[in-house]
Amino acid sequence: MNKILITLDGPSGVGKTTIGKKLANELNLDFFSSGALYRALAKFNLITKKIIFENFHIDSLAPFKCKIDEIVITEKELYTNDLNEKSSEIAQLSEVRGLIQNILHSIYNESSKGLVIEGRDMGSVVFPYANLKIYLDASEEVRSLRRKVQSNNQETIDDIRTRDTRDKNRVNSPLVVPNGAFLIQTDNFTIDETIILIKEKLELQ
Ligand code: DC
Repeated sequence: MNKILITLDGPSGVGKTTIGKKLANELNLDFFSSGALYRALAKFNLITKKIIFENFHIDSLAPFKCKIDEIVITEKELYTNDLNEKSSEIAQLSEVRGLIQNILHSIYNESSKGLVIEGRDMGSVVFPYANLKIYLDASEEVRSLRRKVQSNNQETIDDIRTRDTRDKNRVNSPLVVPNGAFLIQTDNFTIDETIILIKEKLELQ
């Protein structure tokens, strides 16, 4: 196992995807947002009322496109208020987490370059052996402002609070600072400043 693996965990709106994509690009690594799998399964559930599937096939990681049983789901459908809520709800179920964990392991195994992956339990549960584990945090106010500038996401501070409370307090794989992770409080940092800090941590590994 010598491909590099960097995990980014943290609450919603903290900037994990923006930072993760840019970091991966600068290091020439693949990037994946694990929330996309929960969102895709939430969409499948809204359409079919089912939560357990037989086949989950990923057609493309970037932009994300998958087929769950016969339902094709694309990235542009995933970032809606309905799915913010529904994905966080289904993420509480241990059978869902188990199925998604297997898919995440195969994404890493199939990555030829190495991977930056973001989520809620990447460093704590799914990839505890990652080369570098980062936990990004910021105040609710800052996170809700960051969310507002993402054009397709109308998540309010109350929505963020509800989702974070659920993600942090669930029984299965709650959002925690993983053992061995570096915590970066990003309130007063730009994206580039945060990336510089992460790269410094990487050099120390
Ligand atoms: O990161 P996101 O907003 O796309 O994630 C959507 C939801 O999916 C989030 O509220 C909780 C769940 N999730 C999770 O439980 N574990 C992950 N590793 C990623 C997302």
